[in-house]
Amino acid sequence: MLEIENLSVSYGKTPILRDVDVSVDAGEVVGIMGKNGVGKTTLVKAIIGLLEADAGTIRFDGRDVTDERADERARRGIGYIPQGRDVFPELTVEQNLKMGETINEASETLHYDTVYEYFPILEERRSQKAGTMSGGQQQMLAIGRALVGDPKLLLLDEPSEGIQPSIVQDLTRDLRELSADLGTTILFVEQNLHVVQNLSERCYAIDKGTIVDELEGDRLASRDEVAAYLAV
Ligand SMILES: Nc1ncnc2c1ncn2[C@@H]1O[C@H](COP(=O)(O)OP(=O)(O)O)[C@@H](O)[C@H]1O
Ligand SMILES: [Mg+2]
Repeated sequence: MLEIENLSVSYGKTPILRDVDVSVDAGEVVGIMGKNGVGKTTLVKAIIGLLEADAGTIRFDGRDVTDERADERARRGIGYIPQGRDVFPELTVEQNLKMGETINEASETLHYDTVYEYFPILEERRSQKAGTMSGGQQQMLAIGRALVGDPKLLLLDEPSEGIQPSIVQDLTRDLRELSADLGTTILFVEQNLHVVQNLSERCYAIDKGTIVDELEGDRLASRDEVAAYLAV
């Protein structure tokens, strides 16, 4: 579904990512964990196309998208949930969801029913301005917006940030169920131990702009092994 090879990205003359290799199979739920400032957001932005690659390739769904714009990649089926959510505060919940319809142009399916089934609060608050909702509800809206158009890949940048722990647990479970029910592939970056351990089937570790490890099974289940890559 997604294959990143030798990716390097910089801000101006400052190199941030070096030789990043990441691959995600269809239907997989994969995490990338790392502390603050190690390059997680830079990597996510390079995958969706908001930052240009200096070197390397990004293949999505069998096609080289390295030189495509972000909106083109979205139309091919990448649903992006930015760090800090970025919902439109002055628009209603429903108007925000509508923005997601352009994701995955090839699919005729719209997932409003699914979104409202997973996040009933969004249906209840359909006509309310997004800015009036809590952080957790706005995160549900951001996920719903990315889901509406039937994405092949959901790309999430720190979905747990600024959300209270009980809601983080709900969100983690919802994302797992969504992936299982719809077959949606998920790639997320996180520094929250609970999300890393309970959402990923496999997890890369990133440090100083480079992938330094890949964990699954017993190692991913070990609190100590995971915590070594996080600021806990
Ligand atoms: N717009 C920018 N211009 C210059 N440097 C940046 C910019 N955004 C982030 N950085 C730097 O790039 C590095 C990686 O940042 P980022 O990808 O946001 O890390 P993370 O998401 O893991 O916290 C940090 O050292 C940060 O200071
Ligand atoms: Mg970040």
